Amino acid sequence: MSFNPKTIIEPFRIKSVEPIRQTTREEREVALARASFNLFKLPARDVLIDLLTDSGTGAMSSAQWAGMMRGDESYAGADSFYRFENSVRGITGLRHVIPTHQGRAAERILFGTMLKPGDIVPNNTHFDTTRANVEACGATALDIPIAEARQPGTVHPFKGSMDLEQLDRVLTTSRDKVPLVMMTVTNNSGGGQPVSLENLRAVSRRCREARVPLFLDACRFAENSWFIREREDGYHDKSPREIAGMMFAEVDGATMSAKKDGMANIGGFLAMQDDELARRCRDNLILTEGFPTYGGLAGYDLEAIAVGLEEALDEDYLRYRIRTVAYLADRLRQVGIAMVEPPGGHALYLDARAMLPHIPVLEYPAVALSCALYLEGGIRSVEIGSLMFGRQPDGTEKPAAMELVRLAFPRRVYTQSHVDYLAEAIIYVNERRDRLRGLRIRSEPPALRHFTAELEPIGGTLLA
Ligand code: F0G
Repeated sequence: MSFNPKTIIEPFRIKSVEPIRQTTREEREVALARASFNLFKLPARDVLIDLLTDSGTGAMSSAQWAGMMRGDESYAGADSFYRFENSVRGITGLRHVIPTHQGRAAERILFGTMLKPGDIVPNNTHFDTTRANVEACGATALDIPIAEARQPGTVHPFKGSMDLEQLDRVLTTSRDKVPLVMMTVTNNSGGGQPVSLENLRAVSRRCREARVPLFLDACRFAENSWFIREREDGYHDKSPREIAGMMFAEVDGATMSAKKDGMANIGGFLAMQDDELARRCRDNLILTEGFPTYGGLAGYDLEAIAVGLEEALDEDYLRYRIRTVAYLADRLRQVGIAMVEPPGGHALYLDARAMLPHIPVLEYPAVALSCALYLEGGIRSVEIGSLMFGRQPDGTEKPAAMELVRLAFPRRVYTQSHVDYLAEAIIYVNERRDRLRGLRIRSEPPALRHFTAELEPIGGTLLA
């Protein structure tokens, strides 16, 4: 019998390192007040472990850096573009590949081309920029995940899936107002949860019958492929690449942030089958992003993405990636910490409403928890709750479906001892949770307020 290790190791060794800086609790207290209790406003140098986002924060491979050296910076028709296009086409099978500087640029161009005021875009759950881009066109962003998606503690293998009855309803009653349907894989705002191939196929069938194009928000397509392989019958012996191919075969197009499963620090794309739509999107691209063979990116960025998309589908990488989050979840579950179950692909989502029942939702319990994790452990996370989603287009405030703190893991950046430290710090804060106080907003901008809002703890102090 051969050695069959239980430990899943980081499938890389480290060639280049970057120091992280320890700070004292007193220093962090000052930094937090200076940042108006909004972790987006913290200087990164004051953060020890930065789990604000998995977007653009990954470590590139030596192969990606080598690719960057061959970056062709020709304005039009650069070799780098053709390598990028080949890689995207090879994985997605989509004919038209339009580079953009990141995911939201692809969203803006797609929606700006397809939507008009009064339209409705159904999605399992819109990410915040996706929602904002839909709403900026005067259209309605309709979230229709399955009911389990809104129950943090309920275990379901494909909590990212779309509610088919609700989709049927909107396609029956308002077909003329639905220019496209979107499906986000994995469902980021819903907890990093995957969508099953069965559900994607059912949605695709309905969209074809209604003659509505279906687009994938494909940011984390590789992680979604891994979950299908692990959890859905019939795919255990398929490669992540084959499964990704099956996912893309169901859709008419995709928006992508290459800052996630493109393993790059910047970039994205818009891809589709339809010739006429592609022509209109390219016209729109030229207006603000650049010529269609670079779309706001350098040639070397296109190279990094071309290589990164392939690396994201590597089995050893995906096994390590998904295990990292599950390992942290195991540690926290042992002491009864509430979180979105099962843990997501790129992130673990703490359930602040369950952990802090004494803080009313409009006093932002998830903001309080994320501030406490910074204060005690130097950890930066992000609130996904009523600060992010509470303000409605009509100006009223409504509690979000969940109050979550997302701990998002940059790709290939942190090791197991970092994760052990995280578990220790979260458990320490959890033991003091009764002392945590809510916050009020001191000032906020008209849209996407969570990025810049200024807050203060009610009663003057975060921990009573
Ligand atoms: N769609 C999803 C599902 C996302 O998670 C993001 C970004 C975008 C679209 C927009 O892409 O940032 O390249 O413009 N999510 C990041 C996050 C910012 O932290 O989850 P982008």
